[in-house]
Amino acid sequence: MIYLDNNATTPIDERVLEAMMPFLTTHFANASSGHKFGQFTNEAVKKAREHIADLINAYPSEIIFTSGATESINIFLQGIAIKNQDKGNHIITLQTEHKAVLDTCKHLENFGFQVSYLPVSNEGIVDMQVLENAIRKDTILICAMWGNNEIGTLQRVEEIANKAAENDILFFTDATQVYGKININVNAHEIDALCFSGHKIYAPKGIGALYLRQGIKIPALTHGGGHEKGMRSGTLNVAGIVGLGKASELAKKEMKENENKIKILRDTLENGLLEIPDTSINGSIKDRLFNTTNICFKDVDSDALITALEDIAVSNGSACTAHLIEPSHVLKSIGLDDKHAFESVRFSLGKYNTIEEIKTAIVSVQKLVKNFREML
Ligand SMILES: Cc1ncc(COP(=O)(O)O)c(C=O)c1O
Repeated sequence: MIYLDNNATTPIDERVLEAMMPFLTTHFANASSGHKFGQFTNEAVKKAREHIADLINAYPSEIIFTSGATESINIFLQGIAIKNQDKGNHIITLQTEHKAVLDTCKHLENFGFQVSYLPVSNEGIVDMQVLENAIRKDTILICAMWGNNEIGTLQRVEEIANKAAENDILFFTDATQVYGKININVNAHEIDALCFSGHKIYAPKGIGALYLRQGIKIPALTHGGGHEKGMRSGTLNVAGIVGLGKASELAKKEMKENENKIKILRDTLENGLLEIPDTSINGSIKDRLFNTTNICFKDVDSDALITALEDIAVSNGSACTAHLIEPSHVLKSIGLDDKHAFESVRFSLGKYNTIEEIKTAIVSVQKLVKNFREML
């Protein structure tokens, strides 16, 4: 397999697995147990929390472990909505958010909340004037994804956060695609809350976290034993947490090295694919994650191309819902029509990709696109 779908998920780094193994075997004690075995696992959780906090310049006490970004988003968005009902019921977000945000906002609309889904430019970036115009007296939250999972566009998070702070509005960012890839400083960036998942940075699936700035109080969605300061009850996933901690430690140490390597591979891939006639890049070329390229191959159905690529794993943004194939809402938001959205493919690279794989992928895609077009 040539795996070019790292924005969907990543393989587990061997060093992460090695760090986790003792907590799946010998050290299986519940981290809340008072005996010395429980204290040992609790100590491992504490260390992991420190590594995670360190990666985003937060305090360890500001990290709440969850099952992943989707759960973190739900805890925060629903919690903030309930908490601020008296202050206001208006939320601002972007049309290009992940479904975890969009569908949680839709859910909140059922309970009387009003949500502004702001448009973005062809590059996927929100206009600050549009954002400013959307702010109302009853706006309680601005929610904008940092790095887009489909096109890689990097939102101007710092500017948005400043605008939110100026207006005394909370700011949340979905950092799932940027955590461990770019420098995040929650204090310098004035971020009140953010979320991420372990499986995007070579840790396992089913573990993630919510960063919640000290002093912000929200009601819990899950009630029970009072774990995670009462924010997320349930026995801690110690092995997953240790894995996320290790992956975060490695990401910090190897961030620059990974970026340099992956960017060269992405650019090589992109240049090779752009040699194919009638091919264009979707989204911003300048403000973009270094591992992602989303390319439209005109007149080539992306599902057919993905299937024909067989051992090369890439994806498109279309979601299958009960027999209905919908074009990607992100590609539609940046101005593509349905046809071009269905002709677009996302290539997302990771640290294990090699130049040989990239060369093979270029040749395969070039050949298949030519074949498909000849059949028209
Ligand atoms: C930007 C973004 N947000 C949220 C999620 C949801 O993450 P998870 O499925 O791990 O909860 C993803 C995963 O695809 C994502 O890419």
